[in-house]
Amino acid sequence: MCGIVGYIGEEQAAPVLLGGLKKLEYRGYDSAGVAVHNSSGLHVVKAKGRLAVLDGILEGGATLPGTVGIGHTRWATHGAPSDVNSHPQVSDGGLFAVVHNGIIENYLYLKNHLKRRGVAFVSDTDTEVVAQMLEYYYKGDVLQAIRQVTDRVEGSYALGIICAHCPEKVFAVRKDSPLIVGLGQGENFIASDVTAILGHTRRICRLKDREIAVLERGGARFFDAELDPVEKQEELVEWDVAAAEKGGYEHFMMKEICEQPEALGKTISPRIREGRVVLDGIRLSKEEIEGLSRIYIVACGTSYHVGAVAKYAMEKLLRLPIEVDVASEFRYREPILDSRTLVIIISQSGETADTLAALREAKRQGARTLSIVNVVGSTIASESDDVLYTWAGPEIAVASTKAYSTQLAMIYLIALYMVQELGTMPQQELAGLLAQLENLPRLAERCLAEKKEIQYFASRYFNAGDIYFIGRNVDYAASLEASLKLKEISYIHSEAYTGGELKHGPISLIEEGTLVVAICTCRRLFEKMMANIREVKARGAVVLGITTPQLAEALAQEADCLFAVPDTAEFMLPSMSILPLQLFAYYVASMKGCDIDKPRNLAKSVTVE
Ligand code: M6R
Repeated sequence: MCGIVGYIGEEQAAPVLLGGLKKLEYRGYDSAGVAVHNSSGLHVVKAKGRLAVLDGILEGGATLPGTVGIGHTRWATHGAPSDVNSHPQVSDGGLFAVVHNGIIENYLYLKNHLKRRGVAFVSDTDTEVVAQMLEYYYKGDVLQAIRQVTDRVEGSYALGIICAHCPEKVFAVRKDSPLIVGLGQGENFIASDVTAILGHTRRICRLKDREIAVLERGGARFFDAELDPVEKQEELVEWDVAAAEKGGYEHFMMKEICEQPEALGKTISPRIREGRVVLDGIRLSKEEIEGLSRIYIVACGTSYHVGAVAKYAMEKLLRLPIEVDVASEFRYREPILDSRTLVIIISQSGETADTLAALREAKRQGARTLSIVNVVGSTIASESDDVLYTWAGPEIAVASTKAYSTQLAMIYLIALYMVQELGTMPQQELAGLLAQLENLPRLAERCLAEKKEIQYFASRYFNAGDIYFIGRNVDYAASLEASLKLKEISYIHSEAYTGGELKHGPISLIEEGTLVVAICTCRRLFEKMMANIREVKARGAVVLGITTPQLAEALAQEADCLFAVPDTAEFMLPSMSILPLQLFAYYVASMKGCDIDKPRNLAKSVTVE
C-alpha cells in the first residue's frame, strides 16, 4: 500500500527513483512524486495519475538534476488523489520533504495544534502533518526533530525524509509499516519493498519499529527511538531481479499463474523427506499438539480463503475444531484464546495491518502462533512464535494466485504433519496422501496446459453483468476465491454461495442467461450439486462446471460446458479447481480491457487498517 524509495549516491537520483517506483507501482497507483536535492535547493515534482504521468513530466528523470532524493507512489487514504495530496509533502517553510506509507491516526489533533500556532496547511493528507511537525520541532538537528515527531504521532508509518539543511543525507524511520535500507558501493537506498532496489543491491538492513536510519553516500547509520546508535545485521536477499520482472508475459498475473507448478514444488518438496513431513519452522511437540483445544486461522482476502479450505481439510484430518476469521473482525470480536489455542496466521506479504494486529492480539492472550508467510523477514514472520515460508518468490500482481496455491500446500503440510505426529492415521494412508501432495506440482502443470478452452469460454461471457459461483465443502471454499479473483480484476459483480444455500435466497438472482460456475469435484457431494445445477438451470442459468475426469460424463448431462481438472485427494481439490478459474478471471479481465495487474481502488499489501 503506497511505495517508498530513496537514493543517495553518484548517479542522477530522479531516474533511479522513477525506476524504483516502477517496481513499486503495484502497491499504489493513483499519484506519484519525487523530491530531489540539487545545487538550487530542494525540488519537488508530483502528479496525479499513474507513474507514467510523472515519468513524462520528468522525461524519465533526465530533467531533474541532483543525486539525493526520495520518491513515492500513492494509494490514497486521506484526501482524494490529486497533485496537492500526492507525496512528497513539504513543510510550510520548504525545509522538509516527506514520503509516507501508513496512517497517522491523530493527525487532526496535531494539525489543529499546529494551525493554532500559525502553520499553514495545503493538503488533506495526514502526511503533511509529519512534514510540518518536523519543521516546527527542528532546531538544527534532524534526528532530534524526528524523535520529537515520532514521540507524538500515533498510527503506522514508514517515512522517507530529506531536509534542505542536510543536502547530503536521506533519513528514514518506521513503525508498523515496512521499510528497508539497501546498501551499495558509494550509494545507498531506502525502500518499502525490496523489489524497488533489487536492480542495484541485494544487501539490506530491515528497520525495526521506531528505528531511524541516516544514509550518506559512504554508508548508513542507525539509531533507536532514544537516538542511541544501533548495530544492524546485514541480510542478503535471495530473490533475483528476474523474479520481479514480467519475463515475456504480458502481465505479472499470468506469469504468476504459470509459475504455480514451480512454486508448489518449492513449497512442498523440501518438506517431505523419506516419507515424512519435516517442518523445520514448527516447534510444536506431539504433547503440545495433543493438548490443543482448537485452532484459529486468521487472514484477509485470498489468504482468508485459504483458511476456508483449511477448515474443511483440517477438521476432517485432525478431528479438532477449526475456526476461521477475517483478521479485521477477529481483533475486535474479543476472541477467547489461551495457551491451548493455536492461531495460524496466513499472509503473503507478512505486513497486512489487520492480520498483524490479529497476531498481536493472539500473542497478548497467550495463544501459540504460527504464521504462513511468503516475504522473508516480514513483520508477521518475525513476530510469530513459529513461521513457515511458502517460498513462492515475489508476487507482484495485485490479484494473488501463486500465494494462494502455496499457502494451500502449506496448510496440507501442517495438517499431515500433525496427523503424523499424533499417529492417528494408518501409515499406508498417510503415505498415499503425501504421495498425492508431492504430485500436486505435476498436476498443476497439466491443468494449466489447457488454457485454450478457458479462453474460449471467457470470450463468450466477458460481457456478463453478474456471475455466481457455487460449490459444497472444499468446492465452496474454492468458489469464494474464484469469485474474488473475477470481481477484483474484471469488475464483474460476482458472489459465491454454497449449493445448499441457494434456495434460501440467492436463487432469486438467477434469470435467463445468468452464468453460474459450479465447482463439483467432491465425489460424495456430487449428486447434491447436480440437484443444485438443475435448480439454477430451471431458472434459465447457463452453467460452467468444474469437475474431475471421473465425474465429467455425469456432469455433462446438466452443465452447458465443463472443464475437467486432475483428480487428487478430496481436501486438496481446491488446488486444482482454482487454476482454470484464475485463468477465467484473467481472460475475462483482459477481454474487457481492464488493467489486470493494477485493478482500480486496490493495492498490494494493505498496511493500513
Ligand atoms: O499479504 P496478505 O496475504 O496478507 O494479503 C491479504 C489480502 O490483502 C490479499 O490476499 C488480497 O485479497 C488480494 N488482492 C487478493 O487477490
